[in-house]
Amino acid sequence: MSDTNTAAAAKHRKIIIAIDGFSSCGKSTFAKAIAARLGYIFIDTGAMYRAVTLYALTHGAIRSGIVDEERVVALLDAISIAFRFNPERGASDIYVNGELVEGRIRTIEVSNCVSGVSAIPEVRAKLVALQQQMGKSRGVVMDGRDIGTVVFPDAEIKLFMTADPAVRARRRYDELRAKGDEVSLEEIERNVRSRDEADMHRAVSPLRQAPDAVVLDNSHMSVEEQMEWFMRLFRERTGEGNC
Ligand code: DC
Repeated sequence: MSDTNTAAAAKHRKIIIAIDGFSSCGKSTFAKAIAARLGYIFIDTGAMYRAVTLYALTHGAIRSGIVDEERVVALLDAISIAFRFNPERGASDIYVNGELVEGRIRTIEVSNCVSGVSAIPEVRAKLVALQQQMGKSRGVVMDGRDIGTVVFPDAEIKLFMTADPAVRARRRYDELRAKGDEVSLEEIERNVRSRDEADMHRAVSPLRQAPDAVVLDNSHMSVEEQMEWFMRLFRERTGEGNC
């Protein structure tokens, strides 16, 4: 996109764009692309739940895949989460207590335990408060499971993303294999399906579509096609950013 277009997009009153949906739908990739296009800040809230899970794993609060909720809650005050922009990635890296953990939060071990950790009410209360703080000046694209329903129910644009579970498993598999992880497609598909179940049926802030969210099924869409679709919606909603 040209500089003129970037400037045009940045001129409008900044809003909040909430992106919720199933795991491995490409929410983060899409949210990051939207943020770059609009000059907004991208916040990956899944990374925050993953960072708490990694901390719990390395501090004895998860053993043999079993999450000890009391121990996780007892650790919470010792966990400080921050994002710092990494120009090489064009996105922010996540830090826990000053330590860069971006490269360690997307392993299958963390993926297998994160639903248990993100179902703990105290974990959600802490992370939701932090997310609301991060978005208070608006101009953010935030992706997760409860952004349009709980974190920013007043977000000006809410998207609910979905895609065929087999397509999602394949995407996550390709991503992990490209990083050199020895995973099987079957294991990834099991994880995707079990996280869908856990995300939709947990007691606190289950994944659900906000009544005013627009659904995007990207099973057969490229990021470019999704972006064209989004920019039409963005122009309709803001009347600006004509690019
Ligand atoms: O987006 P992701 O797959 O990296 O998210 C990891 C997990 O965190 C996911 O299984 C559900 C949980 N999560 C959540 O409960 N609420 C959010 N806002 C974001 C993620």
